[in-house]
Amino acid sequence: MPSANQQKTTKKFKCPTCETIETVTGAPGEHIIVTCPSCKTTGKAILPTTTDHTHHKDSKAAIVITHLKKMFGDFTAVDDVTFTVNTGEIFGLLGPNGAGKSTIIRMLCTLSRPSAGSATVAGYDIIDQDSKVREHIGLVSEKMIMYDDLTARENLALFGRLYNIPEPQLQQRINDLLTFVRMEKWADARIGTFSTGMKQRINVIRALVNEPEILFLDEPTLGLDPQSTSDIRDLIGKINTDQGTTIILTTHMMSEADMLCDRIGIIDKGNIVALDTPANLKKLVSGTDANVFEIQISNLTPHMITAVQASPAVKTITQEDETHIKVHVLGPGAFDTIIDLLRKHGAKVALVRNIEPTLEDVFLHLTGRQVREKVSETVNHRGRGHGPRRRQTSRVR
Ligand SMILES: Nc1ncnc2c1ncn2[C@@H]1O[C@H](COP(=O)(O)OP(=O)(O)OP(=O)(O)O)[C@@H](O)[C@H]1O
Ligand SMILES: [Mg+2]
Repeated sequence: MPSANQQKTTKKFKCPTCETIETVTGAPGEHIIVTCPSCKTTGKAILPTTTDHTHHKDSKAAIVITHLKKMFGDFTAVDDVTFTVNTGEIFGLLGPNGAGKSTIIRMLCTLSRPSAGSATVAGYDIIDQDSKVREHIGLVSEKMIMYDDLTARENLALFGRLYNIPEPQLQQRINDLLTFVRMEKWADARIGTFSTGMKQRINVIRALVNEPEILFLDEPTLGLDPQSTSDIRDLIGKINTDQGTTIILTTHMMSEADMLCDRIGIIDKGNIVALDTPANLKKLVSGTDANVFEIQISNLTPHMITAVQASPAVKTITQEDETHIKVHVLGPGAFDTIIDLLRKHGAKVALVRNIEPTLEDVFLHLTGRQVREKVSETVNHRGRGHGPRRRQTSRVR
């Protein structure tokens, strides 16, 4: 693959004032100022990180999405989304609440009709060949569709019969799947007696009864306890490696996407703002001369934060807790500048760690906001756009 800076990419931007569409060309991931040719409104825009999202030229695309759009009345839930999911990969759609993740999944699973654009899933068109699409996919939707009064086996069989799978074959398949998730001894117990984690394991294998090529998982670990979350994440990896199933999952959890996904599309307000491997996405923050430092200051004051923030070497600064700040610095010598500045303001620097940026840092870098909406409500905005943010130490969801 050519390196990002050798490539050129183009993207259409709609002027927020007069709605004129302007096509902009530049390097993938480049941050540019766009001036509307009609009304001269200027705004910041980010070009997609890849020119062609089909990275693995030898692999067949499992899903091809072209200019997909979904409107609800006047509201644009999904806005001109284009990307490709490669066969055999785990692809993550990562974004905050209301970003449009489920709406994309629902269109790809033929449950909702696009307002514009098109997509193929397993080679079939989601509009003209919807029943073919459904034969080749499994869906674990946000809402668990299970009958508490039925046993695990009965729930799975009920679903399998919708696919007209011959009974002996279906029972064999159910036994194999129950063994796959180590639930064979619970086969004939009623689902209503299960813990949420057990239910979710059955819910996930329910979507595998028809041996789908592509599995859609919409927030598969939402609401689960830590042990069940870990079990479901292991299961997702196992389905992908043991069964070769292509997986597209949605999540608002940065660590989940990072841990599971080969590639991630970061979605915000119906737009894909970046798409790449987790490692490459992090390079958007930590370029060759950019670094993220966690600094522990035993006598941290707002005054010190303001001073650091004012330095041109600082891109963003986040207050993690009473004594820790996380600083994204840019340029050679930036680290020394920051430490000198802190000492000048009387800071007692107890510890400095050069840390790898997280996907949360990537989202903050791209959108100026944090993914966790509830946490960002507690953010203390000061100064310029990426100013210091005070984050609760306890995580929401
Ligand atoms: N049927 C609908 N009618 C009107 N608006 C809708 C409908 N479905 C979704 N929306 C809106 O579209 C936007 C995207 O919703 P969507 O459910 O796709 O978000 P999401 O990324 O899955 O969020 P979450 O993390 O909360 O599940 C939201 O603003 C939502 O309110
Ligand atoms: Mg959703």
